[in-house]
Order: sequence, then structure tokens, then C-alpha cells
Amino acid sequence: MSSGDPRGASHDDAMRAPGDPVGPGSATWGQASIVLMRGAVLALAVALVAGAIGVLYYIPGVPDRLREAGFAFKTLRPVHTSFVMAWIFLGGVAVVHRYFEDHSELIDAGGRARLRAQVWLWVLAGVGSLVTIAMGITSGREYLGFHPVFSIPMLAGWLLFAFTFFKMTGRGFLDRPVYVTMWGVGVLFFVYTFVEQHAWLLPEVFAHPLTDIRLQWKATGTLIGSFNLFVYGSLIYVGERLSGDTRYAHSRLAYALFAVGVLNSFTNYGHHTYHLPQSHTVKWISFVVSMTEIVILTRVVWDIAASVGRRAGAGFACTRCLLTATKWWTAAMLGSAIVLSIPPLNTIVHGTHVVTGHAMGTEIGIDTMALLAALTWLLESRRTRSADSQTTRRDIVTRRWIIAMNIAAAALVTWLHVSGTVVGVTRYIGTTPPEWFGSLSVAMFVTAGLCTGGAMLALLLRWSPELFAPARALTRP
Ligand code: HEM
Repeated sequence: MSSGDPRGASHDDAMRAPGDPVGPGSATWGQASIVLMRGAVLALAVALVAGAIGVLYYIPGVPDRLREAGFAFKTLRPVHTSFVMAWIFLGGVAVVHRYFEDHSELIDAGGRARLRAQVWLWVLAGVGSLVTIAMGITSGREYLGFHPVFSIPMLAGWLLFAFTFFKMTGRGFLDRPVYVTMWGVGVLFFVYTFVEQHAWLLPEVFAHPLTDIRLQWKATGTLIGSFNLFVYGSLIYVGERLSGDTRYAHSRLAYALFAVGVLNSFTNYGHHTYHLPQSHTVKWISFVVSMTEIVILTRVVWDIAASVGRRAGAGFACTRCLLTATKWWTAAMLGSAIVLSIPPLNTIVHGTHVVTGHAMGTEIGIDTMALLAALTWLLESRRTRSADSQTTRRDIVTRRWIIAMNIAAAALVTWLHVSGTVVGVTRYIGTTPPEWFGSLSVAMFVTAGLCTGGAMLALLLRWSPELFAPARALTRP
């Protein structure tokens, strides 16, 4: 292990030790992580554009014009939520492929063929979903709003990825760090829950709305649990590579996060379905488990940010800034999760923008900040020494954009919680919010939303020259 390498050295069987010549094959793993991260960033850009147009629907008088222009809210929302999910999954899978590059032998012909098929199947599913949703062909389902025919290439691509994953990590799987375990369980969860998500295609399920909703939210909870495991694993891996501290990925706390994350994947549906008839025990179990998860996560993110902070030295300014943002967001969303999960309070805020604020807040603040940290680490770790000095100046400006994005996103999420609470409480006491509050709410949601979307798109544009640079420029120094 060469501790001088700022990119951190591998610690387990290290098929290819740091500094070993990069064979043409291994470059493929490296390029795979970049190609997948490009797909992730494109999915995020699509989601942001759909979100930005969608938020305009809140401005009185605008919806008719948007509809005339062919932008129906019923197509914008599924594009937004489905492509946000694609961003989070693809971002996590990109980090897994970087792990392959850092820890595995050269890719064989079978691996290369699987990779190519996996990427093309997902391109087909992504483009197909976008085009058909834009034509108004949707499943009407929350989060998986595309036509189920595209679930076939999505799942087929995932099964190829699953095969590659376990082929690469199967030997000594149980001795590998927690992030490999998290990714492994995330891979399997996705298969199980993605299939379960399509139970509505069965006539006997579709005919019983209560069963259908229960199944849908149970499956959505596990699907979110699956991508959380990818994000947690990526966070711990990037933290390890930046800090050089390999002990954390074997620590009890990291495994506690893994264990409660898995448990929560099966119980968190409870607090998505408080409005359905079910025993109070289920509600309180999902409350306690969800709270335990976010408490442990807060501790883990703080530990990682601290260990990265301890590793002094230059570089990775944007990654450190994004890890710090993830730290503060996790703590903030802990508060939101507690409010939302206490059954009586949930009754008041259910169906209001508190739920939208919570969903967007966790996915922007925790998942997106953590994956943007992985993106900036992936890019900076590929820079040649000579590039370092010039880009540092550029990074200082980028860091300011990251701070601006977080301020706008914090305003957006805070406002959604405030406006949702006012609507929920006034609804509960049988009245409506004052008119001025309605106009203020629109102004705040639209302004904070467009500032968040604008800053995030500006950042993606700033990282694009490096991310979309031709392959040879991406080979590690
Ligand atoms: C990475 C950034 C973002 C993520 C991860 C994200 C995620 C989400 C999620 C999960 C939902 C569904 C919430 C629910 O269940 O009710 C949602 C809804 C929505 N988001 Fe975002 N969002 C992001 C950025 C934005 C931005 C920048 C805007 C505005 C410019 C925006 C506008 C909307 C709108 C209008 C809705 C629908 C609200 C409704 O149903 O009334 N989102 N977003």
C-alpha cells in the first residue's frame, strides 16, 4: 500500500497494486465508470429540466400555456421522479465500476461484452422511457412512471451487471469491506423489488386498490432502500480513498448502518402508508427503524467528513465541500424524518408539500450531494499532475457554485416543509391558509426551485468538459 498516493491505496487482495501499469483492459473498467457517470449526469439533467418546467405549473395562468406547448404536468412529474431515480442508481453503479478498476484484474472478453450490452440496454430503456412519457404514455405509477415494456431492458441490463458484480467480488466476498456488502445486497434488492414493483400488472392485484397500494409502497420502500445502499457504499468508498483510512469500512458502526439500512428497506413502507388500515405496531416499528437508520447515517457521514478533513493537503476541494454538504443535509433531514414519521403528525402533513420537501430534501441533500462528491472525486483522481494547478482556480469557482446550490436547495426544502405544514394544520382545523400565503408559497417554490435547478445545471455544465472528454484523456496518470 503506497500511503503517499493521494488517491489512497487499495487494502484487500488488490489484484492490481497501485502504480502497476494500466493495461488496455483495465482502462475499460475505468472508462466504464466514466461512461456510467455520464449516463447518470444526463439523467439528472433531464430530471432537472422536467422539474424546472413542472414547477412553473404553480404559477397561476401558466399551466394552460404549458399544456398548449405540449408540457403536461402528468408527463413532467414522471420524467422528473423516474430520471432522478436513474441518476441515483447510475451514479452508484459508476462508483462500483471504479472499485472494479481499483481492485480487479484486467477485464476479460466476457466482461467487456456484458458491459457493452448492459450500457446499450440502459440507453434503450432511458431514451425509450423519455420519448414515450413525452408522448403521454406512462404507467401512472409513482417513481416508475414509464411504460412497463422498458422495464425489460432495465432489468436485463441489471442482471448483466449483477453477474459481473458477483463474478468480480464473489471470491472472498465476506472478507471484503462493508461497501462491497452494501453494493452486493443493493444489487439483489433491486432485482427482487423491481419485479415486485410490477405486481400491478397482475389482474388480481390491479383489481384490489388497497393491496395494490400496499404492495406498491412496500416495493418502493425497498427500491429506495436498494439505491440508499449504493449511495452509502459509495460514500464510504470515496471517504476511504480520500482519507486513506481503510479501517472504517470494517467498523462496527459501518456494519450497523448496513444492517439497519437493510431492515429499514422492509419496514419503511409503514410510514408511506399511514393512511391505509393497518396495526399501530407496524407504524411504530417503521418509525423506530427509520429513525435508527438516519441517526446512524448521520454519525457515519460525520465520521467520514471528519476523517477526510483530517487528511490535510491540497486537492479535492469540491469533493470535500460536497461531503460537508452531505453531512449537514443528513442532520437536517433527520429532523424532517422524525416529524414525518410520528403517526399523529404524519396525519396532519400527509399529502402536503412536507412530503415533497422530505422526498426532495433526502434525495437532493443526501443522495445527490454524496454522488456529486463521488463524481468530483472520479474526475479529479484522473487529472494529470500538470492539470492540477490550473484546475484548482477553476475548482474555487466551482466550490462557490456548490455553496450557492446548497443555499438554494435549503431554501426550497425548508419552504416546502413550511408551506406543507401551514396547509396541513389549517386543513386539520378545518380552514384554509390566507390568500397572501398562497401567492408567497408559489413565489418561494418557483424561485427556490429554479435557483436550485439552475445552479445544479450550471455545475453539471462546469464538470462536463472533463466528464465528456475523449477516452484517452480519461486514462489515469
Ligand atoms: C437533484 C435534484 C432533485 C431531486 C432528487 C428531486 C426529487 C423529487 C422527488 C423525489 C419528487 C417527488 C416528491 C413526492 O413524492 O411528492 C419531486 C417532485 C417535484 N420536484 Fe423535484 N427534485 C430535484 C430537483 C428539483 C428542482 C430543481 C425542481 C424545480 C425547479 C423540482 C421540482 C419538483 C416538482 C414541481 C415536483 C412535483 C411536486 C408535486 O407533485 O406537486 N425538483 N422531486
